[in-house]
Amino acid sequence: MRIGLIGSGNMARALAVGWGRPVYCSALEHSQAAALAELVDGTAARDNAEVAANSDVVVLCHKPKQLAEVAAEIAGDTSVVVSILAGVTLDELRAAYPDSNCFRIMPNLAVEIRQATIGIVDDDSGDAGLYQEIKELFGEVGEVFPLGENHFATLTGVSGVGPAYLALVAQTQVDAATAEGLDREVAKQLVGSTLLGSSALLVSRSNDSEEICREVATPGGVTEKGLAVLAVPLREGFAAAMDAVLGRKR
Ligand SMILES: NC(=O)c1ccc[n+]([C@@H]2O[C@H](COP(=O)([O-])OP(=O)(O)OC[C@H]3O[C@@H](n4cnc5c(N)ncnc54)[C@H](OP(=O)(O)O)[C@@H]3O)[C@@H](O)[C@H]2O)c1
Repeated sequence: MRIGLIGSGNMARALAVGWGRPVYCSALEHSQAAALAELVDGTAARDNAEVAANSDVVVLCHKPKQLAEVAAEIAGDTSVVVSILAGVTLDELRAAYPDSNCFRIMPNLAVEIRQATIGIVDDDSGDAGLYQEIKELFGEVGEVFPLGENHFATLTGVSGVGPAYLALVAQTQVDAATAEGLDREVAKQLVGSTLLGSSALLVSRSNDSEEICREVATPGGVTEKGLAVLAVPLREGFAAAMDAVLGRKR
């Protein structure tokens, strides 16, 4: 399956690196597409039409607000379109690409290391074989979760944005440690290693986060004190962040 990427920014780069095979790619700034193409031995197209003409599947990696302008250039030349555009519904996608088979995906940045969490809207296209092919293509760079579109915004607010949230947690923990005099590089290594081990432990325990909290927080111990301080603001913060992602006023 020849892959074409419209856009050569953060997600396009991460996807191309994760797939590890040549892609056709474009960007408004040609040098950006050229840099990505060089990274994966691919081809920087002169324009979006060239990407569409040389791809079996076109993955939209531009910004959501550019849907109409890009579709105006390539809609007639794309048989399969995959959108990773946050907030753009399948109906909106199909309206922009009426002659294409359209799929809505929400990956995260961990596609780069083939460990992403990837949502795909449940198939209603009637082409089960093609849906399976798209799932397998994205399955190369992570774990794919089919989901009703009514839950897609929530998935975006959990796994799409997740790497940034956890990076922020890491950053604030590093800041707290360096405020105590620990060397920043050492603090980064401690926090990174702890995140890695903790997430592996969580998965090995069937994602039972309560069990892990219980086992680390011996009654009267230091973890219990720290958790007591963190629990409420963390719960409130993540709820408010979900509201913000969903565009809901508090
Ligand atoms: N970042 C994430 O972690 C993440 C996760 C899930 C989904 N997404 C979705 O992925 C998409 C891209 O996000 P990003 O973070 O990769 O953004 P980004 O780094 O800003 O990349 C956007 C790319 O689109 C290009 N572009 C703009 N207008 C174009 C046009 N008319 N034709 C062709 N290319 C055009 C830009 O080129 P120039 O720079 O030359 O203008 C740039 O290469 C967004 O829709 C976002 O919702 C992102």
